[in-house]
Amino acid sequence: PLEDFVHRTLRFSLAALIVAAAVYFGSSLVFNDSRTEAGPPQYWLTADASELAHIRSLNAEGTPVIEFIEERNGIAIAKADELQLAALSGKMHESFHKCSGFIRHSTYEEAVETISNFAAASPDAAFVDYTIDNQAAVTPMVAAAQEPTIRQTIIDLSALHTRRHDQQGGLDGANMILSKWRTLATGRSDMSVMPYAHLNASGDFLTPQPSIVLTIQGTEFPDEIVVVGGHQDSINSSGGATGNAPGADDDASGIASMTEAIRVIKEKNFRPKRTVQFMAYAAEEIGLVGSKNIADNYRLQNKNVIGALQLDMTNFKGASADIAVITDFTNAAQNQFIKNLVTAYQPSLVVIDSACGYACSDHASWHNKQYPASMPFEAKYPAEYNTAIHKTTDTLDRSNNNANHALKFSKLAI
Ligand code: BES
Ligand code: ZN
Repeated sequence: PLEDFVHRTLRFSLAALIVAAAVYFGSSLVFNDSRTEAGPPQYWLTADASELAHIRSLNAEGTPVIEFIEERNGIAIAKADELQLAALSGKMHESFHKCSGFIRHSTYEEAVETISNFAAASPDAAFVDYTIDNQAAVTPMVAAAQEPTIRQTIIDLSALHTRRHDQQGGLDGANMILSKWRTLATGRSDMSVMPYAHLNASGDFLTPQPSIVLTIQGTEFPDEIVVVGGHQDSINSSGGATGNAPGADDDASGIASMTEAIRVIKEKNFRPKRTVQFMAYAAEEIGLVGSKNIADNYRLQNKNVIGALQLDMTNFKGASADIAVITDFTNAAQNQFIKNLVTAYQPSLVVIDSACGYACSDHASWHNKQYPASMPFEAKYPAEYNTAIHKTTDTLDRSNNNANHALKFSKLAI
């Protein structure tokens, strides 16, 4: 019933998104206390050591009493009760314009673990033991990936006049992905699909467009999350908010490559050991808004994203390569793993390196939160990329009305 409610209401209003957000964020809002002795319950917290020192030195009325315990890697571990945490939150906001500026933990061990996770997640460190050892499951799935279903997804998404984040078409696009993914998830109790509403700390919408997240619960290490993402929105950079923005390559192609990977996983009944989340991000084109909100929240919730793959523009082939691995705002060790996957499963492809030179897509949102990110891109950049993006001419005929190139990225995602 909630699913039907969300589905139906998306067409008419945004109210459903608020409900969905409440459900989605609900678990992270659960109050977690560690009452063991008399007096108000105490919490452990981690905060930037110099910021916390500044607050503790204020010594003015309303300065919270925070018991400093120790510092590790520039992050302080401290103790406080509920009232003091509330006061700390206010002071952090006053001094550093942060919403809370600290992370609350129920145990000392959890605080320590959070700090070591931060240290381990330095963008260039290989903190995952990358192996390619699952050919028995992967090879048949790679073989099952097909061009026609990818082509159809691109046709469906690019048929909308625009998928701009603040237009009705932006909600129609979100709804289309929600319903395609829900259909694919049907019959798998380990697969769920939810809209992810983008709210700031005051509860206001950052964008009316929700991201769409399909989760496959991991069988052995469910707390380790692998993200596969692309952006659902499009933009017409010269035609105003209502201008035609088919976005066939940017980025219906990436969403279509992902959707085919989901279809094959379902067809072959593949159950990943780790949790996999497919994310169709909202509002990328106005500044990575959806992915940034998700990556910010995941870091605040201390979620263990062990890798994020970004598929943005997968269906326009350049002359000199099949896949250009973007080297900036990405993790070098994970990029090498991406190349090794291509060598293992698609050995005929030509892979090169390219750099955007700026935070060009949603991989940067993860990278900026110290999660390892990669972006395999359709062509050598900037020499050979699809210059029709953000225009009315970003249509499938630029790719000879087929999705042969995007298929390579489905296989890589698989
Ligand atoms: N798909 C593009 C980014 C892109 C273009 C990557 C060409 C590689 C080659 C993306 O949707 C986009 O347009 N990004 C914006 C930046 C973003 C922060 C708003 C851009 O490139 O202007
Ligand atoms: Zn894009």
